Amino acid sequence: MIKWGIVGTGNIAHKLASDMQYVSDGSLYAVASRSQHKADSFAREFGIPKAYEGYENLAADPDVQAVYIATPHSDHYASTLMMLRNKKAVLCEKPLAVNVSQAKEMIRVARENNVLLLDALWSVFLPGMLKVQEWISAGLIGELKLITSECGFTSDVITEGRLYNPHLAGGALLDIGIYTILLPYWIFNSKPERLESLAKMTDTQVDEQSGILMSFPGGRIAQSISGINVPLKNSSTIYGTKGYIDIPEYWKAEKVWLKSEDKEEYFEDSRSSWGYDFEVREVNRLIQEGKTESSVVSYQKSIELMEILDETRDKIGLKYPFE
Ligand SMILES: NC(=O)c1ccc[n+]([C@@H]2O[C@H](COP(=O)([O-])OP(=O)(O)OC[C@H]3O[C@@H](n4cnc5c(N)ncnc54)[C@H](OP(=O)(O)O)[C@@H]3O)[C@@H](O)[C@H]2O)c1
Repeated sequence: MIKWGIVGTGNIAHKLASDMQYVSDGSLYAVASRSQHKADSFAREFGIPKAYEGYENLAADPDVQAVYIATPHSDHYASTLMMLRNKKAVLCEKPLAVNVSQAKEMIRVARENNVLLLDALWSVFLPGMLKVQEWISAGLIGELKLITSECGFTSDVITEGRLYNPHLAGGALLDIGIYTILLPYWIFNSKPERLESLAKMTDTQVDEQSGILMSFPGGRIAQSISGINVPLKNSSTIYGTKGYIDIPEYWKAEKVWLKSEDKEEYFEDSRSSWGYDFEVREVNRLIQEGKTESSVVSYQKSIELMEILDETRDKIGLKYPFE
């Protein structure tokens, strides 16, 4: 039974903690917050034995084997490094880091300490995404040509909150735009050859809404849009020469549709969880097998994804004050 610690007690920490009930080979052992009160309340809610004030106190607990980093983007680097240096395996929320140089250093420290680091790209472990890849590999939509992806919601403008605050590496791109990049990167299995992007910036100088056009080897194209000021349909369509695959709310991939010249097929994931248990099981499996890198989300993939995010930020002029 792998003993897990959680760093941060916000929105996504609650969801992953709730999904631990579906994981048979791991359990929540500790939680850390900036405040003892929040750590205690989270621990009570999920029946977690240890509640720490201060992330460093969780890092110092020798019984914690794996740590889930569920803090704002600006904190991923420091908290991950602290856990890796204390020999904990780390599952770090997306984006793995704020930029590629941070990501490379995190990977270097994971290797140096011979521990696992996994970029929490949870969608790629979901049964719906595996079904999509199976349909594509079987050639059911023919030769891949185009992918459209959108991801957006209307959030309150809270300038100190993590979405609008540049000091927390806010903006649409790193929060949800990453999914609109991840999907074409994953399906085309390549970095784009060329990328163009336009964004509308907030008064706080983070991107509120952005559009990205990418061209991939073989003349393939992806169009991605995201926003934190607009309720988008949040769907993705993968087009090939013989048909297409629709994935509504594709980061959750609960339902996927295939419509091709030859057949129509529908797949629905029957999971009861939010879907975060799949990435947790990947971490548990790797730890039990003594592995320090996932072959699904390899370090190379994490680095390339960060490079695409960096290039997009370059195009829209999104630079954070601490960079
Ligand atoms: N995979 C997904 O589906 C998904 C969904 C949503 C978010 N995320 C990712 O998960 C991470 C956290 O997002 P979230 O929505 O859970 O955020 P959130 O609700 O704001 O929670 C973040 C937590 O981080 C801690 N924290 C540390 N430093 C902080 C600071 N300076 N300001 C505010 N909080 C700070 C806080 O916990 P303590 O006060 O207890 O220390 C806070 O509760 C982000 O990387 C985000 O992109 C992933």
